[in-house]
Amino acid sequence: VTDSDNNVTLSAKAMTHFEDMFNAAAAAGQSFRVTSSYRSYADQVSTYNYWVSTSGTTGADTYSARPGFSEHQTGFVVDVAAGSCVLDCFGSTTQYTWLQEHAADYGFIQRYYAGYESTTGYKAEEWHYRYVGKTVAKAMKTRGIKTLEEYWDIEGGDYR
Ligand code: DAL
Ligand code: ZN
Repeated sequence: VTDSDNNVTLSAKAMTHFEDMFNAAAAAGQSFRVTSSYRSYADQVSTYNYWVSTSGTTGADTYSARPGFSEHQTGFVVDVAAGSCVLDCFGSTTQYTWLQEHAADYGFIQRYYAGYESTTGYKAEEWHYRYVGKTVAKAMKTRGIKTLEEYWDIEGGDYR
């Protein structure tokens, strides 16, 4: 489903929770915006090829999923930004701090943390939030588990 006001397309299951989180952030004075959400296979081809053109295949593979392997293709992910602060600087914003505190209450997790590159296969992404449901998100927060690979006890890090 698409929420054209907020420029976001997600699975219906994730959308309700996303909107609750989005509105709660705004009410707390921590509004953010969405820069990317659902991507088709063709969208991911364009995205990945763009990053290959700037970083080469080896570089791109450290932060951009190959087509068919991006969580964005599931409709369960949003990339967010705050004002002019897009991608790498998002982690230094008050919006980021708010999400660290509250995203789990809406079933979302930061999917790629610094220090877990070999577990997830990707560099840290403070802006990429995946809907996993409140039960899992809260359990991960309570137990201090930073990756889905560890939560599910699966081998990851080589998604291609
Ligand atoms: N940047 C993440 C890994 C993706 O391309 O889905
Ligand atoms: Zn993303």
